[in-house]
Parts: sequence; structure tokens; C-alpha cells
Amino acid sequence: MPDAIIQGKTFTPFISAKQILEQVANIAAQISLDYAGKRPLVLGILNGSFMFASDVFRQLDIEAEISFIKLASYKGTTSSGNVVTSIGLEENLQGRHIIIVEDIIDTGKTLYSFLPEVYQRQPASVRIATFLTKPTALQFDVKADYFCFEIDNKFVVGYGLDYDGLGRNLPELYVLKD
Ligand code: IMP
Ligand code: MG
Repeated sequence: MPDAIIQGKTFTPFISAKQILEQVANIAAQISLDYAGKRPLVLGILNGSFMFASDVFRQLDIEAEISFIKLASYKGTTSSGNVVTSIGLEENLQGRHIIIVEDIIDTGKTLYSFLPEVYQRQPASVRIATFLTKPTALQFDVKADYFCFEIDNKFVVGYGLDYDGLGRNLPELYVLKD
């Protein structure tokens, strides 16, 4: 795999599409076991999670619903720390089993700010599924119930994750070269 150049920055191949899809299948199998008969509502957080959410969802072999919301908190290569938008949470969450799906938990700020809004709607349960976590970057009390990979505190793109809006369509994960 060659490097990817995005907006003048060089990104190196990091996790292959094959490895990604193997882990996605593991998570989908686990979720299918855990939520059989519960008809969970998968709540994907746009834009970053669209690819992961759709790959996981496609592999669930139980009754399940999916919906997407938008919470933007990020620009460039460092987190701004501010949640700027929260759009589209129209489902009735009361009594539902919610699985929030994120692309990555970095500092944890995004989910930490959003979770009270979810709990306020009195769901039966809430769990978090994230494609990636960066344990050493975590600053807020948020824990993933399901994750594909734990990575170092490095900037990555691909499989839905972007650098300045680009790179989301790469089917494998790349890491910023330093
Ligand atoms: P947090 O609020 O610090 O946990 O950041 C979460 C959001 O920051 C994610 O949903 C991503 O949109 C973005 N983000 C964090 N790290 C990366 C990265 O390495 N590449 C691309 N986006 C990232
Ligand atoms: Mg995101």
C-alpha cells in the first residue's frame, strides 16, 4: 500500500481493510448475542461513524434499528474541545436499548457532553461502540463497551475518519507520518 497524501500531509498505511472487517465482524457477532430479542436502536454519530456503523449494522443478525445524529467537535489535527452541533435526535429513546456508535474516542469530550442528553430521554440501557479508542488521550470519563482497535495517540484517517473533510473514503486506516 502506498502512502496517502491529503492536503499536503503524508499518511502511512496502518490497519488493513481485512483486519478492520474481521474486527467489525467480531463486534457485530457480540452485539447480536448481547441484544437478541431487545431490538436495539443503533445511534450512529455523523460524519465519522457512517462507514463503521453501516458495516456493523449490516452484520447484525437480530432485529435492530438504526438512526444517525450529528455532533461536530473537531477541526484539523487537534480537538477543539467544543461540541458545536447536536442535530437530528428525533427518535423516542424511552425504554429503548441504545447503542451509540462513534468512529473514535479521543479525549472523550464529545461523548461525555452528549451522554446526558441521551440519559435524559430515559432509555432502558446505553452502550457505546467505537471503531477506535486512544486510551492515552482520554480526559473524560467515557468507556467503550465495544471497540475494534486501541491505538496510540496519533492522528489517523480512513474508514470514515477525516483530515479536514478528506480521506473518509479510504477503505483502510492510515496514520499521520511524523
Ligand atoms: P473526542 O471528543 O476528543 O473524543 O473526539 C472525538 C472526535 O474527534 C471523533 O469523533 C473524531 O471526529 C475526531 N477525532 C479524534 N481523533 C481523530 C483522528 O485521529 N482522526 C480523525 N478524527 C479524529
Ligand atoms: Mg466524529
